[in-house]
Amino acid sequence: MTRAEPAIRVSIEQKVFPAIADRPEHVVLAGVELTIERGSFVVLTGPSGCGKSTMLNIVAGLDTEYEGAVVFGEDTAKLAFMFQTPRLLPWRTVEENVALVLDDDTPNPTEKVAAILLRVGLSEAANAYPERLSLGMQRRAALARAFVIEPDILLMDEPFVSLDDPSADSLRALLIELWNRRPTTVLFVTHDRIEAVMLATRLIRLGGRPAHIVQDTGVDLSPDERLDREKVLAWRMRLFENA
Ligand SMILES: Nc1ncnc2c1ncn2[C@@H]1O[C@H](COP(=O)(O)OP(=O)(O)O)[C@@H](O)[C@H]1O
Ligand SMILES: [Mg+2]
Repeated sequence: MTRAEPAIRVSIEQKVFPAIADRPEHVVLAGVELTIERGSFVVLTGPSGCGKSTMLNIVAGLDTEYEGAVVFGEDTAKLAFMFQTPRLLPWRTVEENVALVLDDDTPNPTEKVAAILLRVGLSEAANAYPERLSLGMQRRAALARAFVIEPDILLMDEPFVSLDDPSADSLRALLIELWNRRPTTVLFVTHDRIEAVMLATRLIRLGGRPAHIVQDTGVDLSPDERLDREKVLAWRMRLFENA
């Protein structure tokens, strides 16, 4: 494959959760075909329980029990995943949590960690343990840990849920800044429509039973416009008018 090739091709013919106890067999996804271009910020949205996390886990390779294929383009080996909970090790400091994900042969690891902590505004908390931090700061640490490896592909599953609005907004602004600084292919799951519009260069909506892609739209907003509430609300109206 060449650099012009897409970063990821997803083809999920069918994803079935088998019957367990009194729960019948459940076809969650069917006929999901998606080609993700390099450097795009794809937001996957849809109602709660429709299968967004299931799809992300398939792309991440965490779930291999499905019919179909996920193919990555060349030079897309470095994958980072950011979950709903920050998943920091409580017995390690912020700095250690971030350093842990670097390969042993990474040049200047200390400088790399310090640089990313500075960027996310956590320099002063470098030696703190996660439990001493607010949830917003823990999420900043998780964001630093995702970006420190300079991933080719970043998969994010509702990483900013259960934050107050100002904290969530400042993390979204930070994510936009990090993504602009070093274009990365992102697949971001959220059920929050405002968040979806703020972040996406391409918005994919899942719907139906079993879930499939019901909408696929480009979002043409500049980085500054993404922080402009009125612009974002106008786009939300336009994108979700039929929802
Ligand atoms: N391990 C599992 N076993 C059985 N059913 C599951 C499992 N994980 C998720 N589901 C079901 O699959 C559907 C989609 O779940 P999920 O992908 O988590 O939705 P979303 O992330 O869109 O909220 C839901 O009905 C959920 O209950
Ligand atoms: Mg989910």
